[in-house]
Amino acid sequence: MRPAGVGRALAASDVPRDELFVTTKLGNADQGYDSTLRAFDESLAKLGPDHVDLYLVHWPAPARDLYVDTWRALEKLVADGRIRTAGVSDFRPAHLQRLLDSSDLVPAVNQIELHPALQQRELRALHADRFIATEAWSPLAQGAVLAEPAVVDFAARHGKSPAQVVLRWHLQLGNIVIPKSVTPARIRENIDVFDFTLSGEEMDAFGGLDRGLRTGPDPDIFN
Ligand SMILES: NC(=O)c1ccc[n+]([C@@H]2O[C@H](COP(=O)([O-])OP(=O)(O)OC[C@H]3O[C@@H](n4cnc5c(N)ncnc54)[C@H](OP(=O)(O)O)[C@@H]3O)[C@@H](O)[C@H]2O)c1
Repeated sequence: MRPAGVGRALAASDVPRDELFVTTKLGNADQGYDSTLRAFDESLAKLGPDHVDLYLVHWPAPARDLYVDTWRALEKLVADGRIRTAGVSDFRPAHLQRLLDSSDLVPAVNQIELHPALQQRELRALHADRFIATEAWSPLAQGAVLAEPAVVDFAARHGKSPAQVVLRWHLQLGNIVIPKSVTPARIRENIDVFDFTLSGEEMDAFGGLDRGLRTGPDPDIFN
């Protein structure tokens, strides 16, 4: 038997509104002040509620050079109470700094590719400085870090799987993690990471796994 909610999209009507955190993103083709407001209306009409909890600018798309105008539209949406928090995704330090220099609205979140093989130290330091939450996409590097000897060793020490050890590393750094799995046993495994702690020495050992590996596009050239 299939567990409830697995194998089909979760409908908003499945969960009481006060237990749902609704987030969506603005696509690159909709960047710009007026087009952002239009795209947001369309998203909201599809989703159903009268506001979203978090709205993200999906990529900086620097060649379009519209993300500052786009951010002004998010400022209006926040002021109008239509989004509770505004954030960005895939912004590198220079993109983020330009937003911070042009607006008083600090992004609540930057959702970025982040895993042991791409540790994004400069961005995480900027986030910490400006109280921006770091959200890690591809937190398992789509599986590419699960056979690392150190990860396998720590997993054996703690009686956990390599994926659980990697997710635990993220949580101890303070990252928000959104691992993806279509496998019910893995979905359960990926939430079962709150009954062990990596030591300082183990956390330090992760430092050596950074090799600048991107599984997705480079935000500087993805438009
Ligand atoms: N902001 C952006 O630009 C952006 C870009 C890409 C992705 N994302 C978001 O990030 C989320 C996750 O990223 P992702 O799917 O690229 O990478 P990921 O979560 O790092 O890896 C997913 C892969 O790992 C496998 N996996 C999951 N749990 C596992 C476990 N416990 N043990 C072994 N293997 C496991 C999955 O297999 P099975 O599914 O077969 O179990 C799948 O092949 C996506 O859902 C997406 O929403 C955002």
